[in-house]
Amino acid sequence: MDDHFDQSDHGWDEQEPIPPDLSGEHYQQKRDAMRILEAHNFMCIEKLGSGAFGDVYRMTGFCGQEVAVKIVSLEVIKQNEIEIWPKMSHPNIIPLLQYFSFTNPDVGVFVMPIYRDNLQNAALDGQFLRQSGALDYLKLWLNDSLCGLIYLHFNEACHLDIKADNILISQDYRAVICDFSCLACATKAIPRDDLGLPLMYRPPEACPSFGSGAEVDGKAFDLWAFGMMVLELFTNKALARAINSAGNWNRDIYPILFNILQEDVFKSFVLGIFSATGIADGQIKIVLNFIHTFLMPDQRNRWNAGKAIGHCFFSNCGKIGTGHDSALQTGKLRLS
Ligand SMILES: Nc1ncnc2c1ncn2[C@@H]1O[C@H](COP(=O)(O)OP(=O)(O)OP(=O)(O)O)[C@@H](O)[C@H]1O
Ligand SMILES: [Mg+2]
Repeated sequence: MDDHFDQSDHGWDEQEPIPPDLSGEHYQQKRDAMRILEAHNFMCIEKLGSGAFGDVYRMTGFCGQEVAVKIVSLEVIKQNEIEIWPKMSHPNIIPLLQYFSFTNPDVGVFVMPIYRDNLQNAALDGQFLRQSGALDYLKLWLNDSLCGLIYLHFNEACHLDIKADNILISQDYRAVICDFSCLACATKAIPRDDLGLPLMYRPPEACPSFGSGAEVDGKAFDLWAFGMMVLELFTNKALARAINSAGNWNRDIYPILFNILQEDVFKSFVLGIFSATGIADGQIKIVLNFIHTFLMPDQRNRWNAGKAIGHCFFSNCGKIGTGHDSALQTGKLRLS
């Protein structure tokens, strides 16, 4: 591709790793887990990230090969994550290389290939956004993520925590879905207590102030979350920055969301994001239309992942990347 963004100038250059600080009392369990891992020939290099459930470290293991290792307290690990994740096989789903657990400390350890960064950091990085190919890469990563979602939904699984921190970018600039801590079976209604995401990113039917039932449809939940992710990426988190408290969907979320989705308001945010390279008016309209297909308050009107992959937002998307057509790879999970 002519418009390839310069890989040497994106701010993701190798930096000296900083060893993790595990000195606090809070880290006793992690420290103990690390000691056991070291006894099993893993060596910690640096902390890669952390979330609500666990910490992720860059380690050497597997005969000196670098891997990402997530250490999570056993009490928060759900059975689906250890049973269904290892069976998944798709270019846009992070593979689980190995899982093991310890008692005392009671932790589970997930071993994965190492990725460059998460989509949140990658897409909002100033240097990345100054590259002329930034928009094409964003589209490619969203296309990859949607292909991963198609695969999950095709196999009657739902992620329930789709957000830009849970999408990883590989060394060759492709995206995979990660973090299966909320993974659930999509054929059953999901109790609200099992859902991921803060209230502001949840669809109206999943907020306590809205809807009558205490259970939601997992696929429809993922699709709304996907739309929210796209919105936040194209507006530099306008929603998160505007919402102070989200207790009631109609009162605290809807008016702010409605305002950001107005064409002129949305356009000013998007122009800010692409201020260095510019973005055509027609493109902005397509992005907004794409977001609208997911952010339908009535879930019956939300586009499913298979339909959304055909949206004109993705036209020209194949210009970049390695050319694998992962949309077609919806193979059945082998569940036995
Ligand atoms: N394989 C990996 N390679 C590189 N970085 C990773 C990898 N896995 C996770 N990370 C980093 O660690 C962060 C947290 O990982 P993950 O989302 O799996 O943890 P979590 O505690 O379950 O998060 P959450 O709060 O979303 O539930 C990610 O956003 C990413 O930045
Ligand atoms: Mg996460």
